[in-house]
Amino acid sequence: MDKIHIVGGNRLHGTIPISGAKNATLPLMIASLATSETLTLHNVPSLQDVVTLSRILGNHGVDYTVAGRRSGSASGQGSTIKLTAKSIVDTTAPYDLVRRMRASFWVIGPLLARMGEARVSLPGGCAIGTRPVDFFLDALSALGADLSIEQGYAVATARKGLIGNRVSFPRVSVGATHVALMAAALARGESVIENAACEPEIVDLADCLNAMGAKIEGAGTRTIHIQGVDVLHGAEHSVVPDRIETGTYAMAAAMTGGKVTLEGTRAEHLSAALDALEQAGVGVERGETSITISRNGNGIQPVDVTTDPFPGFPTDLQAQFMALMTRAQGTATITETIFENRFMHVAELARLGAAIRLDGQKAHVDGQPTLTGAEVMATDLRASVSLVIAGLAAEGETTVGRVYHLDRGFENLEAKLSACGAQIERLAA
Ligand code: UD1
Repeated sequence: MDKIHIVGGNRLHGTIPISGAKNATLPLMIASLATSETLTLHNVPSLQDVVTLSRILGNHGVDYTVAGRRSGSASGQGSTIKLTAKSIVDTTAPYDLVRRMRASFWVIGPLLARMGEARVSLPGGCAIGTRPVDFFLDALSALGADLSIEQGYAVATARKGLIGNRVSFPRVSVGATHVALMAAALARGESVIENAACEPEIVDLADCLNAMGAKIEGAGTRTIHIQGVDVLHGAEHSVVPDRIETGTYAMAAAMTGGKVTLEGTRAEHLSAALDALEQAGVGVERGETSITISRNGNGIQPVDVTTDPFPGFPTDLQAQFMALMTRAQGTATITETIFENRFMHVAELARLGAAIRLDGQKAHVDGQPTLTGAEVMATDLRASVSLVIAGLAAEGETTVGRVYHLDRGFENLEAKLSACGAQIERLAA
């Protein structure tokens, strides 16, 4: 298995281009199941999750091409992909494919809406808590589907089509909002989603569905109105910039010191994280499509953060912010409210010399003047990149194992950081 080798201590200086958002790309690709015409997506990141999902969609009959070439013959990934689900050949998403990526469960929405049936394995994915699917199933049931769980599969049918209704979520769920949107877009009549997720990736999906002929209003707010349509058609859409990748490199630059411009991104999509960085004493310049992060000489101040649905501090930046706080001049408390088991990086950060006390959903981080390089292991996607950030600031060498987690969500990580002066390389197994 590949490893990432880092020699810490270099300040970062330069420009990092931000990729399209993984968390938007996946639902957008899944939306291709809702139409027999071609959906063209631009600004698609080259990530393992995109490859995995293209295989899953292929199993349902989606024809997938990259930058105008057939996927099998392309030597590399392009940033424009075309997805055509002319006919759905299979409405079953088998365990063997779905277990690789939780988001693949979301195919249940468009498959059911278009075909009147779907049989989708219950998901696996990152090991960051129980991550149930009850909200998804309740939403589909509100839209008139018959549902059962059979041998590890969610089986949904709506032989006469879905019917618009009120879908009210007990708690904000990004995934369930995506699925409800895709299902309600093709339901008969009007639907209202209450307590919807407001994440920029939800707005991106709604924009794309609208370009495909859907009638969705209010995405980005807690209440979304959908007027169902009979069919959706092809469209072209550009994926929103990755706010989590942006925040990750912002924290890397804050941690090592130096000055880095993050290009092709939207500051308004990560206000909570940028505010926290400013409170920590980091320089943040918000441009129209870029953000410049700088820290020269001054220490890192401790800042308490609590993860929350958008526009709150994102759970996907919690591990990275914790890495930053390990070098703060004092104690910071980080509270995780989205997942019950998202502190797996704590034990690994401790191997680098971090002092973190866990207390239920809270982590108290006692900042240290230095971290020291060590051999560490990635446990999930965002946790693994927090170890990279810590390694960049640690004295000496750090090796991060199990980097397949990183490849799921960070495009050209080593190249982007090396270009800014980091000493980081991939060691092939
Ligand atoms: C969550 C994050 C998202 C992040 C992703 C990957 C939030 C609101 N969501 O999205 O930003 O990119 O993880 O790290 O920050 N839940 C249920 N039943 C369900 C669905 C969800 O109880 O059917 C619970 C979950 O266990 C969790 C919360 O609701 O505690 C939010 O879940 P959800 O937003 O669906 O998770 P993801 O879509 O994975």
